Amino acid sequence: MKNSKGIKSNINIDKLPKHIAIIMDGNGRWAKKRSLPRNFGHQEGMKRVIEIVEAAHQIGIGYLTLYAFSTENWKRPANEINGLMKILVIYIRAELERLHNNNIKINILGDISELPETPRNEVVKAIEKTKYNTGMVLNIALNYGGRNEIIRGIKEYLKDIEMGKISVEDLNTDIFSNYLYTRGQPDPDLIIRPSGEQRLSNFLLYQIAYSEFWYSDVLWPDFKENHLYEAIIDFQNRSRRFGGI
Ligand code: FPP
Repeated sequence: MKNSKGIKSNINIDKLPKHIAIIMDGNGRWAKKRSLPRNFGHQEGMKRVIEIVEAAHQIGIGYLTLYAFSTENWKRPANEINGLMKILVIYIRAELERLHNNNIKINILGDISELPETPRNEVVKAIEKTKYNTGMVLNIALNYGGRNEIIRGIKEYLKDIEMGKISVEDLNTDIFSNYLYTRGQPDPDLIIRPSGEQRLSNFLLYQIAYSEFWYSDVLWPDFKENHLYEAIIDFQNRSRRFGGI
């Protein structure tokens, strides 16, 4: 791989993906390879979050979505879940000021009412503090599941019908987008999944209809700015037809 500056200079700034979404995977395997507890992998993964958010902001990405905790992740052992929640709290406490100074707006995809009190309070603080920011939107998918998001959207739509705000006939794909956590945002152009897995894992199921996928064998804790630039350049060389010719 070329050095970071070399690769970065190959990015066409006029053809940037508006929205990049990343399934941060491989923390556990990274730790296992080093005979460390899994939470060490998550801690190292948090450092990559800091770097990749900074890199995406620097090149001018409008929306960055990070899959941090899925609705299925509650099945993990309690100490791993507690470790992940602690890392989230550490991340927000350490980074909120800088994110805010960089005009980054934090948005959560998922039901935060089910989070333990401390991470929930930190998340609410981050949303509140950055709510008027106009720069990059940082979506953190937390207690997020794509199927749940769609069902939740349907329920919200049905409530609006009951209240007479909208009718069954009004529903179309654009209107339904407004009932998702990503309301008002463009759909992801590019989905990145490191760690060699090639599956969706219940991520943004409605929004990714025409997203481009980029996979890599590198584990998330080894994912550097260069990998992000590589994915963007690869994306820029693809021909997107959205079902046309
Ligand atoms: C998947 O790897 C990763 C997660 C379930 C957690 C992702 C969380 C972080 C990177 C921590 C910091 C996040 C923020 C937003 C501060 P895995 O554990 O499934 O890895 P494996 O497949 O190798 O076991």
